[in-house]
Amino acid sequence: MRQIWITKPGCPEVLVVKKALDPEPRAGEVRVRVEASGVNFADILGRMGIYPDLPPIPVVVGYEVGGRVDAVGVGANPGWIGRDVFAVTRFGGYSDVVCVPEKQVFARPAGMSAEEGAAVPVNYLTAWQLVVVMGGLKRGETMLVHSAGGGVGIAATQIAKHVGAKVIGVASASKHDELKALGFEHLIDCRREDFEARTREITAGRGVELVLDAVGGDSFKKGYRLLAPTGRLGMFGVSSAANAKERDLFNIFRTLTTTPWFLFTPLALLNANKGVFGVNLGHMWGEIDRMRGWANELLDLWSKGVIQPKIDCTFRFDEASLAHHYMQDRKNVGKVLLKP
Ligand SMILES: NC(=O)c1ccc[n+]([C@@H]2O[C@H](COP(=O)([O-])OP(=O)(O)OC[C@H]3O[C@@H](n4cnc5c(N)ncnc54)[C@H](OP(=O)(O)O)[C@@H]3O)[C@@H](O)[C@H]2O)c1
Repeated sequence: MRQIWITKPGCPEVLVVKKALDPEPRAGEVRVRVEASGVNFADILGRMGIYPDLPPIPVVVGYEVGGRVDAVGVGANPGWIGRDVFAVTRFGGYSDVVCVPEKQVFARPAGMSAEEGAAVPVNYLTAWQLVVVMGGLKRGETMLVHSAGGGVGIAATQIAKHVGAKVIGVASASKHDELKALGFEHLIDCRREDFEARTREITAGRGVELVLDAVGGDSFKKGYRLLAPTGRLGMFGVSSAANAKERDLFNIFRTLTTTPWFLFTPLALLNANKGVFGVNLGHMWGEIDRMRGWANELLDLWSKGVIQPKIDCTFRFDEASLAHHYMQDRKNVGKVLLKP
């Protein structure tokens, strides 16, 4: 098999393709021949050496794949063999063969390509947890979403539109034309506009019912201030800690010092009728049965054409460093994939 290794913490060029013997599925596992692997921002943080959950480097990252099952281990259902699937991987997804526990594998419905399959798990399960499970977004409410043109941002927007909510997106201006077609009511330029002031203007001072923020630092503070009564702030990342392509202590320090550690106190929340919550899909492995339930709801929406993964582009395994540059240069509108 071929795998993309993070050989040491650093810039995208530390990603190197290496060969190894194909793994055999252990008891309860299925083996997937991978046709596409999803790239996620967490992989970038891992490569930079600033992702707390990362196993020791050298390591193969990757949380999701699409492909076909070619073998099963003892006790796993042999009916998987030959089936088109997508799977969530606890690291190791940047690989053209993966073995994963049966519970982490999902049959792809007819008509869903391996690429689309690889674009579903992380982005859509995260978005579902943020918008539906914890954000409780309702018809007529307004959601503000950061990194609106990214994988999670587009997934969350499709779900919010389905719920009947209005969406304000924050993204680089170069993406606005493409994003308008995806149903955003308003778009704010994250680099040239103050999203807090613009959102107040757009909502005539009222603010919004749900904010989805994976930028972090000062952005959490502004998002909290923007919540209308009963509004909720969903925090799920800290992209602002990754402005440089290698670990930059000053940047991390700035993100930490601008984080509002003392703003969401019990009394402040109580008196303002606001809610704050966090999401980390990578800490949901103990809830895999619930996640399967969410995936089934998402697959149902996919079959009705309600959700539609938007794939920006694919890179070959030997171009993995270009894929990381592309996302860190903030060029993607939708999902970035790797193809073996
Ligand atoms: N907690 C979880 O379970 C979970 C799961 C998935 C993702 N996430 C988080 O959600 C965020 C989006 O992830 P994704 O995989 O869907 O990536 P993505 O949004 O597809 O791609 C990254 C985009 O983020 C925006 N961005 C904002 N600040 C950035 C910065 N400092 N450096 C580079 N890009 C920046 C850029 O768009 P603009 O220039 O248009 O803003 C860029 O195109 C990340 O913070 C990620 O860690 C969390």
